[in-house]
Amino acid sequence: MEPTRNRLIDLLAENTDTYISGQTLSDQLEISRSAVWKHMKELEKDGYQIEGKPRKGYRIISFPEKVSANTVQWGLTTDWLGTTMIHRTTIDSTQVLAHKLAQEGAPHGTVVIADEQTNGRGRMERPWNSKLHKGIWMSMVLRPSLPPHQAPQLTLLTATVLADVLQRKLNQSLYIKWPNDILIGNKKVSGILTELQAEQDRIQYMVIGIGMNVLHQEGDIPEELWHKASSLLLETGTSIQIKPLIQEILAAFEPTYAAYMKQGFAPIKRKWEQFGFRLNESIHIRTFQKEWDATFLGIADDGALLVTDSAGKPEKLYSAEIDWFHEAD
Ligand code: BTN
Repeated sequence: MEPTRNRLIDLLAENTDTYISGQTLSDQLEISRSAVWKHMKELEKDGYQIEGKPRKGYRIISFPEKVSANTVQWGLTTDWLGTTMIHRTTIDSTQVLAHKLAQEGAPHGTVVIADEQTNGRGRMERPWNSKLHKGIWMSMVLRPSLPPHQAPQLTLLTATVLADVLQRKLNQSLYIKWPNDILIGNKKVSGILTELQAEQDRIQYMVIGIGMNVLHQEGDIPEELWHKASSLLLETGTSIQIKPLIQEILAAFEPTYAAYMKQGFAPIKRKWEQFGFRLNESIHIRTFQKEWDATFLGIADDGALLVTDSAGKPEKLYSAEIDWFHEAD
């Protein structure tokens, strides 16, 4: 957010029960009084309710729940993630805009958020239902100095961040279903789509897309998905506010990413295993070449899927579709 506006909100927030004069704001921010007034109008557009009284000054009455680049950035505790933030009310897909911006040179940590996606996409070219004001539809541009084969580790890392944040907030049993679905009980509430632009030995940029169903009621989810998809509201009975949830996810992602870049994948693997869905159970595996029944052993030290081969020995897979036997659905 523009630093002046951020400081203005800070000043107003520190003085919620008194008025702060236009002159004081103008002095403190080192801008003209008419510039102060213009900032106030912009804040009102973002949903801040500000009372202005002649000869007294300004007082903030309420802070918005509305999501915008400004409202998310105010109070965001990150150093680089979300410093560049783009918000759209409606968009085809935040992934598409994030790719475009990345190709135009958008910095590491750029975040694109939308209130609604008209053409949201999931893994395996599936559509991703992204209703207006019902969830988090967000893409992050990252520029890690890593070889492309390590990119899937960042998907697993993102899943652990989401699981951690939700566990703290909801006090409910949560699982990560390999590779990247967040489940409450056995219903998916969130998914991650990682896309990559890379050269042979170097990632140019990654776009990590996060979709989270937050406030959906039954009618907001297509009936054919009821047996396997849900929302935080439906599973917990709690209406969680979207803006602080986005802030918490970004604030948790940044240090986890920094720790991963320093310490490698081992701590992420341990965390992932704490949340791992139906570890050591029987699964059916499909790869491009073959399919077979196996046991799901978890993830390997490099993040690959670890299963038993047809002779019962551990085998690493880098791409596969797996189904559990006796799916609850
Ligand atoms: C999946 O589980 O299949 C992944 C879903 C990812 C959806 C998110 S919503 C924000 C971003 N924009 C998209 O079009 N997709 C991702």
